[in-house]
Amino acid sequence: MATRKKKIGIGLLGLGTVGTGVVELLEKNRVHIESRVGAQLEIRSAVVKDVSKARPGMPSNLKITNKVSDVTNDPEVDLIVELMGGFEPARTYILEGISKGKHIVTANKAVLAKHWDEIFQAAHDKNVDVYLEAAVGGGIPCIQAINDGLAANKISEITAIINGTTNFILTGMAQYGQTFEKSLKDAQAKGYAESDPSFDIDGMDACHKLAILSSIAFDQRVKIEEIHIQGIRGITKADIDAAKTEMNCTVKHLAIARSREEHGLEVQVVPCLIPHDHPLASVEGVYNGIVVTGDAVGRVMLSGRGAGKLPTASAVISDIIYIARNIAVGVAGKVPAVAYDVDRVESRRIVPYDEIKNRFFLRFTAVDQPGVLARIASILAEHGISISSVAQNERQKGSSVPVYLSTYTATEKSMGEAIKAIESLPAVKSGTLVMRLEIPENAS
Ligand SMILES: NC(=O)c1ccc[n+]([C@@H]2O[C@H](COP(=O)([O-])OP(=O)(O)OC[C@H]3O[C@@H](n4cnc5c(N)ncnc54)[C@H](OP(=O)(O)O)[C@@H]3O)[C@@H](O)[C@H]2O)c1
Repeated sequence: MATRKKKIGIGLLGLGTVGTGVVELLEKNRVHIESRVGAQLEIRSAVVKDVSKARPGMPSNLKITNKVSDVTNDPEVDLIVELMGGFEPARTYILEGISKGKHIVTANKAVLAKHWDEIFQAAHDKNVDVYLEAAVGGGIPCIQAINDGLAANKISEITAIINGTTNFILTGMAQYGQTFEKSLKDAQAKGYAESDPSFDIDGMDACHKLAILSSIAFDQRVKIEEIHIQGIRGITKADIDAAKTEMNCTVKHLAIARSREEHGLEVQVVPCLIPHDHPLASVEGVYNGIVVTGDAVGRVMLSGRGAGKLPTASAVISDIIYIARNIAVGVAGKVPAVAYDVDRVESRRIVPYDEIKNRFFLRFTAVDQPGVLARIASILAEHGISISSVAQNERQKGSSVPVYLSTYTATEKSMGEAIKAIESLPAVKSGTLVMRLEIPENAS
C-alpha cells in the first residue's frame, strides 16, 4: 500500500484577483480544508509578472518570483495552480508543469477552450490530473456536478447564463428601463465589464465556456469554431419590452448545447426569449445559472456567483482538494483526465450553423403602409417558416416602425435567407434583430 503523503506542495502561477483569493481562503479555512484532504496544504511559491508590486495580506513566507522554473523545478511542488489568464505564456507554463509530472488546476477558460487537446493529451501521457472547475461559472460547481454527480446520465441539453456582464446589462435594461449604453456604462463603472467590452458582449467569453462545458458533458471535444455566436449588441429597451408584452418572456444571453439524437449536437451562444417561469429567468445581474438535463435525473439547475475573488477561489480550492486527496493516498491520475475515456466514446456530429433549428423572435423595421406585413409573411412562408404571432404597436403612416414577429421552428439557413429577401423589399430597412425563442412549440 502506498504511504500517505502528509504535506502537499502547491505552486501558484498568478497572484491577482483569484490568486490572492486562493491564498486568503486557504488561510481562513485551513483547518476545515485540510481536514477534508487528510494532509497539509502548503503554497510554496507564486509566479507574478511584477515582483516589485506590493502584495498586502500575503503571508511573509510565500516566495514571490517571476521565474516559472522556481515552481516547475521545485520537487516539493505536487500541483500547479494557473491563475494568470490568457493564452500565452499560460499554455507553455501548464505544459511545462505537466512535463515535470505536476498536476494542474486552472481557472483559465481561454487556454482550455483553445488548447484542450494538447493539454489533455499531455496530461494523459504523464498520468497527471487537470482540474478546471473555476473556468466555467466562477463559484458554481458545475464541472464537478456534470463529471461526478450526474455521471450516470446521458446529458441531452445544457442551457446556461455563463457571462455575468451580458446578464448584468440585460437585467439593467429589463428592470430599470435603462438603454443598452447606460447599462453597459454601469457594468463598466462597477468593474463587471472591461473598457473594451467586446469579448463579453459579442459572446466570445460565453463561447469559450460553452466549449468547455459541452466537451465535458457530451464526452467529445467541442471546438470554439464549431459554436455559433451572436452577441447582445443591437438589442434595445423597446425589444425587451416587446418580449415581455407580446410573449410574456424575458431576454437572456444563453449558451445552449442541445443533442438532437439523429441530427447531432447543436451548440450556440445567442440572445433568447425565455418565459418568466423558466428556471433561468430569475438569474439576474452578474449571477450565472446552468440548467443541465440528464436522461435519468431530468432537469437540474445550478446558480450562483459566476466571478469574483472568493467565489472563484472557492472553485479553485475545491479542485485543489480533489487532487490533493488523490495525491495524499497515491492514486492521482485515477480517472481519465477529461473524466471520460476518449477512446470509448463515439463522437456525435456537430450540427453546422445553417442546420441548427430554432424558433425565432424577429424585429423588422418597416414603413407603415398597406401590404408590407402580408409581403413579409409570404416571404417567410416561401422559406417554409410559419408565423406564430405578429405585433405592430406603433402606427405612423408612411414612416418606419418596428414589427415584431415570432415563428415556429425553422433552420438558421432558411431564416437567414428569408431575412435577406425581406430586407430587399423597398419598405423594409436592413438591420433586422434576430433572437431565439426558447418555448417548445406545443407550449404556445
Ligand atoms: N476574476 C474573476 O472573477 C475570475 C472568475 C473566473 C475565472 N477567472 C480566471 O482566472 C484567471 C485569473 O484571473 P484574475 O482575475 O485573477 O487575473 P488578474 O487579477 O489579472 O491576475 C493575473 C495574475 O497573473 C500574473 N501574470 C500575468 N501575466 C503574467 C506573466 N506573463 N508572467 C507571470 N505572471 C503573470 C499577474 O502578475 P502581476 O500581479 O505582477 O500583475 C497577476 O498576478 C483568468 O484565467 C480568469 O479568466 C477569473
